[in-house]
Amino acid sequence: MVCLGNICRSPTAEVVFRKMVIDQNLHEFFEIDSAGTGDWHVGHSPDSRATSAAAKRDMDLSTLKARLVEPDDFDYFDYIFAMDKENYKNLCLMSPSAEQDKISLFLCQGSENSTNNYEDVPDPYYSGDDGFELVLDLIEEASTNIIATLVTKHKLSNK
Ligand code: 4NP
Repeated sequence: MVCLGNICRSPTAEVVFRKMVIDQNLHEFFEIDSAGTGDWHVGHSPDSRATSAAAKRDMDLSTLKARLVEPDDFDYFDYIFAMDKENYKNLCLMSPSAEQDKISLFLCQGSENSTNNYEDVPDPYYSGDDGFELVLDLIEEASTNIIATLVTKHKLSNK
């Protein structure tokens, strides 16, 4: 999961997605991580507004620390989800061409089941608390759709 600062959207996506795969007993199939394309917040905890919004939905962001996307990530991970088009573009510029197919826009995966028209998870950094609720709503819906798509595609079984 990749955003700009790795303190708002992508750590939220990491924790939402992980909670959903655990709740569906699919965790043996997934390793989930997040990173940023900008270095301003490397080593910092998530933004306190993101942590508070997630805590209200029983999710804990407090143990995470921001890191930059690293060259090895493109080889190591099977799927790389960008939270918005700007980060998608930067990830494509950073990645070896052989790995570019792994990169996609988070909200556009499984979007045939989406109930909204967002293509980007809006950057909440300069918004109020409502922005963080929207981030969670969008990420929860997209995670549900992506997990269902991956279960079908890779024939994952939680039995
Ligand atoms: P994120 O939000 O990309 O969702 O972590 C931001 C965090 C920090 C900044 C911008 C966006 N910043 O400009 O410092």
